[in-house]
Amino acid sequence: NRVHRIAVIPGDGIGKEVVPEGVRVLEAAAKKFGFKLQLDNFDFASCDYYEKHGRMLPEDWKDQIGKHDAIFFGAVGMPDKVPDHISLWGSLILFRREFDQYVNLRPVRLMPGVPSPLAGREPGDIDFWVVRENTEGEYSAIGGRMFAGTEREVVVQETVMSRVGVDRVLKFAFELAQSTPKKHLTSATKSNGIAITMPYWDERVKEMAKSYPDVKWNQFHIDILTAHFVMNPDKFNVVVASNLFGDILSDLGPACTGTIGIAPSGNINPERKYPSVFEPVHGSAPDIYGQGIANPIGQIWSGAMMLEHLGESEAAKAIVTAIEKVLAEPKLRTRDLKGPANTVECGKAIAEALA
Ligand code: NAD
Ligand code: IPM
Ligand code: MN
Repeated sequence: NRVHRIAVIPGDGIGKEVVPEGVRVLEAAAKKFGFKLQLDNFDFASCDYYEKHGRMLPEDWKDQIGKHDAIFFGAVGMPDKVPDHISLWGSLILFRREFDQYVNLRPVRLMPGVPSPLAGREPGDIDFWVVRENTEGEYSAIGGRMFAGTEREVVVQETVMSRVGVDRVLKFAFELAQSTPKKHLTSATKSNGIAITMPYWDERVKEMAKSYPDVKWNQFHIDILTAHFVMNPDKFNVVVASNLFGDILSDLGPACTGTIGIAPSGNINPERKYPSVFEPVHGSAPDIYGQGIANPIGQIWSGAMMLEHLGESEAAKAIVTAIEKVLAEPKLRTRDLKGPANTVECGKAIAEALA
């Protein structure tokens, strides 16, 4: 009998509203597909926890969640209570780095029946993966402030690209591309302006491509690539990018599919030495928190990605099918998709469609 041990961390804001819907659907999937879930809930990695304890995580957080098969995460951040760089570097970014989740895998898909803000686009026109480097790059803690508080004040922050760090995420992306029917990969850089790290990334792409002769690939500077996302989204299959560019592309892509509220992600340690974290792409949305109107689909789809990672492929596919069924029904959509449903109604509808 298959048992999966999951650490559940709702975090802040709408994380606390969408995680229960994600859990509802995971439990429905377990029941239907005959596996067991052991769900352990944690209140840390939240700004409430920070206000009580003066830190985002307990000292022994790695012992508490490091042995689970996966982590099901909501969102962190309440900028009115705790500065974002403190709450995020003290939780999510730390998980990614300490658990060596060097791939952030973010599917972007226009779902049947959901209108795209891009005129004339149909499902199939927007269906690609963003593979985001997740442990180095522009997200670095290297730098500092000099002459603080004076007119000569200077701040410096370094971008870090290691050969191991770049190659391993490129390898993942090329292998993903190779496994898809289109066998195509796009790399995002900005080598005209950022003249040391970005040309290095390009160089490693060229080198890696030699090992995948059946994968066709191209590269764009990030500025024109954002334009192509809007003008020609059908040209993309696997898009691999540095930490910051991948972050930006993985909000822009989902926006082209109608809402960022449905977009899922996996922060993956492919070697499975550490647990991977599955969470929606969106954040804690303080502007709508407490109203019960958040779209739970990003969280629920992240649950499907988690089950796929745990070897429950059939259940994962069934969840995505249930999401598609519910999204096709205008009255079951949440407000971000101009529908009347609330968070719980949408979550329940997906759990029912699955059962
Ligand atoms: P956000 O994603 O939280 O919200 C952006 C906009 O999208 C808001 O108008 C929000 O209402 C809307 N939105 C987001 N998710 C939605 C959903 N499921 N359904 C309906 N509408 C949704 O981004 P932000 O406003 O830049 O950040 C808010 C806080 O969240 C900050 O503290 C930020 O640091 C944090 N954040 C955390 C994560 C994460 O935990 N992975 C990701 C992004 C932002
Ligand atoms: C994301 C978020 C985070 C990131 C923030 C909250 C630090 O935007 O997961 O996309 O930039 O990685
Ligand atoms: Mn982001």
